[in-house]
Amino acid sequence: MKNNKLAIIGMGHVGSYVLADAMKVGLFSEIVVIDQDKNIAFGEALDQAHATSLTYMTNVHVHAGDYPDLKDADVIICAAGPSIITTEDNKKPDRALLAKENGEIIREVMTGITQYTNEAIIIFITNPLDSMVYIAENEFDYPKGRIFGTGTMLDSARLRQVIAANYRVDPKSVTGYMMGEHGLTAFPVFSRLNIQGFGEKELDHYFKGKEPLDRKTFGQKVVDAAYDVLNGKGWTNAGVAQAAITLAKSVLLDERSVYPVCTTLNGQYGYHGDVALSMPCIIGRNGVEQQLEIELDHEEVTLLQQSAAYIQETMKIAKT
Ligand code: LAC
Repeated sequence: MKNNKLAIIGMGHVGSYVLADAMKVGLFSEIVVIDQDKNIAFGEALDQAHATSLTYMTNVHVHAGDYPDLKDADVIICAAGPSIITTEDNKKPDRALLAKENGEIIREVMTGITQYTNEAIIIFITNPLDSMVYIAENEFDYPKGRIFGTGTMLDSARLRQVIAANYRVDPKSVTGYMMGEHGLTAFPVFSRLNIQGFGEKELDHYFKGKEPLDRKTFGQKVVDAAYDVLNGKGWTNAGVAQAAITLAKSVLLDERSVYPVCTTLNGQYGYHGDVALSMPCIIGRNGVEQQLEIELDHEEVTLLQQSAAYIQETMKIAKT
């Protein structure tokens, strides 16, 4: 009988949080932990095994392993490589700074994965996310749709939180998402943002926000939210880990949820395989089941083009 097997590659702040979330979600009967530091992988897995015996939740077989363990994995989550860090001279470090180093790491990871499987659904977190997904999808022969990135899932959660806080409503009542780069050029699709059907132009009238909705101001608040966390604790992990597990759940249970994730565009918005960025997609057992080319207003099309151009510049660094 097939078990639900997850593999997590990279046990830094993000990967270890993904592991903790994966242990608690009760979806996986086996979780294999891979890191270039075998001691870290062993320690993280054993620590979680101890925790399981306390919680009496699903008895997950969690263990350290290596690439051969991927042969029967259903989902692989990759958080390998350094994440953005705050440096004294650069309070808002650009994720693109990691493009060269992490580009090489992703190539090593994909070389390892493709030796043992081409069936697992691979969810990337490693930054600069869009360029890393582009490398994985386009430099390796792996079935279409089975590779994608968390993309603007987290940025979209931040958007809903920012809007909810401004209008003092439950974030779950806010429908809205970001598109484009997971990074400085991500942008909200304000033309589709709503609170239970009350659209962009109605919010200030009905919900009396703390401040009036202004696209540029609120779009920047969302991008800056990552740095608010980063400058507070020195890294980010909880939000993106939850995004990855939410996506893994939609894959494993074939939920066909619609989420903004990062994939290579094949004709959408006029891009033909030359950029990967976040747009709404249906996520199911085969990974990206369908990319949904939602119509954007003129301003949003311009922002998408600017974001795509920025990602393409970052990709040039990752390719050198
Ligand atoms: C962030 C990292 C995951 O935005 O890029 O928190």
